[in-house]
Amino acid sequence: MNEAPREQWGSRFGFVLAAVGSAVGLGNMWRFPYFAAENGGAAFVFLYIIMVALIGLPIMLAEFAIGRGSKKSPILALAHFGGNAWKPLGVLFVLGGFLILSYYAVIAGWTLRYAWNALSVGFGSDPAGFFGEVSTGGDAALWHLLFMAVTVLIVAGGIRAGIERSAIILMPLLALIVVGLAIFASTLPGAGAGYAFYLKADFSELLSLSVLTEATSQAFFSLSLGMGAMLTYSSYLSRDDNMPREAVIIAGSDFMIAFLAGLMVFPLIFALGLSDELSDSTIGALFISLPNAFGEMGAVGRPVGILFFVALLVGALTSAISLLEVVVSAIIDTWKWPRRKAALIMGALITMVGIPSALSIDFLGLVDQLAANLFLVVGAFSLSIFVGWVMPDPIGEVSKGAENIRWLPLWYAFIRYVVPPLLLFVLYFTVINTWNMVTGLIGG
Ligand code: PHE
Repeated sequence: MNEAPREQWGSRFGFVLAAVGSAVGLGNMWRFPYFAAENGGAAFVFLYIIMVALIGLPIMLAEFAIGRGSKKSPILALAHFGGNAWKPLGVLFVLGGFLILSYYAVIAGWTLRYAWNALSVGFGSDPAGFFGEVSTGGDAALWHLLFMAVTVLIVAGGIRAGIERSAIILMPLLALIVVGLAIFASTLPGAGAGYAFYLKADFSELLSLSVLTEATSQAFFSLSLGMGAMLTYSSYLSRDDNMPREAVIIAGSDFMIAFLAGLMVFPLIFALGLSDELSDSTIGALFISLPNAFGEMGAVGRPVGILFFVALLVGALTSAISLLEVVVSAIIDTWKWPRRKAALIMGALITMVGIPSALSIDFLGLVDQLAANLFLVVGAFSLSIFVGWVMPDPIGEVSKGAENIRWLPLWYAFIRYVVPPLLLFVLYFTVINTWNMVTGLIGG
């Protein structure tokens, strides 16, 4: 039987945009600003940049090496270079994609609901009440389902016609909105106070190990690392791409959008003196304080709010696509299912597994901790061992198409000697945090 040839990206530009699309998402526009404001402001931003450079970039390149080198989906790619003993790690990746998408699509469903409401009726007078209504229960489940349906449709369309094409249209739109809104926010009266809240430098926070742990897992989440998403996307690359250069572009764009998101969010909130609500920085804070600001802002509030939620939605969608693609590509390769069938059935299963997250925010928070923190750190640690100590000649693989890059030996030394011990350290604290959260939820 002749198998269809493996799909490929139409252009490098398409690959880079799709990878940036995977990276830029709720993590940038929702998690990052709050983490930064809570954990030392400018000092956190500084620490975050260091973690992205020291750990994020090396792991991204490691995923690229495995993906493009094997041209296979995660489970088979690891087996290709490391033998069957490494298949369980691939299974963990696929499970990670499955679980992250199950609750990510719930939050994305809220976003879809907010964007729809902003367009159709505007922002009501009771944002906290509205959030309570739409964030859990049947409503949340319904919008979660709608969001998943769109994600499935795009992934079913394939690499070029589905994923690449949507990224080429959506990512420039997102960048334009975020830059535009950040500029608009800088003209507001509360801009100074907002920036001060976001970026007041408190270096004492950095001495806390939990901040180091948070910065590291935030870097993985934001860059889509540790669960095979970048590995999968790079498996559709041709040989001659300059992967180190592209990794720098992708990580740089991801950071810029996250940083700009903070510059946009906080002035908006402070312009209206709504900063009180920020003390309550739970999962829902962004969905309460921002609509509140849009509602109070007068005539400009509505278009600004629409743009904001459209950007958030676009970011969530292009990230969700990559999460589903990890699962779908693995099923296509292992069980030889056609793409459409794999996208539809896996999408339906993920939607079902997401229902408990739609019904309880506590449950959603728990899955977030488990999949987005614990799994990603375990995954990234294992990847560093794999590429540093198991895979034959990773430098050789990465240097194809990157002959001019001089720092590859340094990258390899990092992946071997620096990244694993650092991540072991981070892993220790992540396990403790996860354990506390589980026992906290069960006990209380
Ligand atoms: N990077 C995405 C975000 O910032 C989330 C994500 C994590 C996507 C892991 C794919 C894999 O929202």
